[in-house]
Amino acid sequence: MGAFTSGGADLAVIGAAGKTGAAVVAALEKKASVRRVVHTARRADDRAVDLETGAGLREALSGCRGVYFIAPNVHPDEPALLRRVLAAATEGGVDHVVYHSVAWPYTPDMPHHLDKARCEDELHRYGGVRWTVLQPCAYAENFAAVLDGSVNTLAVPYDPDAVFSFVGLADVAEAAARVLIEGADIHHGATYELGGPEELSVRQLCRRAPGSVVVGQVPVADWMDRHGGDLTVDARARLAAMFDFYDRHGFVAGSTQLRALLGRRPVGVTDLVGAM
Ligand SMILES: NC(=O)c1ccc[n+]([C@@H]2O[C@H](COP(=O)([O-])OP(=O)(O)OC[C@H]3O[C@@H](n4cnc5c(N)ncnc54)[C@H](OP(=O)(O)O)[C@@H]3O)[C@@H](O)[C@H]2O)c1
Repeated sequence: MGAFTSGGADLAVIGAAGKTGAAVVAALEKKASVRRVVHTARRADDRAVDLETGAGLREALSGCRGVYFIAPNVHPDEPALLRRVLAAATEGGVDHVVYHSVAWPYTPDMPHHLDKARCEDELHRYGGVRWTVLQPCAYAENFAAVLDGSVNTLAVPYDPDAVFSFVGLADVAEAAARVLIEGADIHHGATYELGGPEELSVRQLCRRAPGSVVVGQVPVADWMDRHGGDLTVDARARLAAMFDFYDRHGFVAGSTQLRALLGRRPVGVTDLVGAM
C-alpha cells in the first residue's frame, strides 16, 4: 500500500484496543492520523466511549473523515451499537463509515452473524453517511498458539475436518486501511468479502504447525466449561450456535476481493507459521 494517503484528515477506529482494532490501527498508523476509540483508555490520546450508552462517541468522532466500526464479539444487540455510531458520525460530520461485518452475514442459524446482516441492512438504508462493508472470514490468528508452536494439542468444539478460508488478520487490516484512506469517493456502496487464499480444515492447519499437534473434537459444553467462564449466557448461546454451524457446514469465503484490495496474493496459513 504505497500509493494512497489520508489527505491529512483524521480516521477513527472504534474497538481500537481489541484484537482486530489493534491490527487495523497498526496498518493505518503508517499512512494516516488515527484516533483510537476504546472502552478503557490506556494511552493519553485514547478516546474513551461507551457503545452501550453512546457516551463520548460524538466527541470521539467529531471532525473525522472516516470511521472504522468494530463491534465487541458476540454482542447481544450489535444493531443498537451501530445506530449509536451512525448517529454520532452524522452529528460529528463524518463522511464515511466502514463497518467490520463478517463473511456469510445472512446465516439465521448463527445469531451473531444475523445481527451483522441486520447492521448491513441498517447501513444501506441509513442515508446520513457514505459507507463500505468488509466481510472477513475466520482469522488464521484464532489459532496463533498452533501457528507459533506454543501448543501441541488442540481441542475444538466442532468437526476438525470442517473447512474454512482462514484469512490473515494483517491482510484484513491492510485492506481496511486502504478502504479508509481512499475513502468514500472510491469505496461508498461496496461490500468486500475477505477470505484467505485456500480452504483448510483445522486438522490441515495443525499439520502445518512447526511441531506435531494432536487435534481432536470436544463437546461444546466441555469447551464452554474450559473457556467460557467469563461469558454471559447470551454470548455462550451465540458461540454454541456458531460451533454447531461450523460442525455441519464449515465457513468458506472467496479471496478475489481481498487480493484486489491488497494488490497481491493474500497470505496463507503456511506463510504465518513462525511469523507471529
Ligand atoms: N475472530 C474472527 O475470526 C472474526 C472474523 C470476522 C469478524 N470478526 C468480528 O470482529 C469483531 C471484533 O472481534 P475481536 O475479537 O477483535 O474483539 P475484541 O478483541 O474482543 O475487541 C473488542 C473491543 O470492543 C471494545 N468494547 C467492549 N465493550 C465496549 C463498550 N461498551 N464500548 C466501547 N467499546 C467496547 C473493547 O474495548 P476495551 O479493550 O477498551 O475494553 C475491545 O477492545 C467482532 O464483531 C467479530 O464478530 C471476528
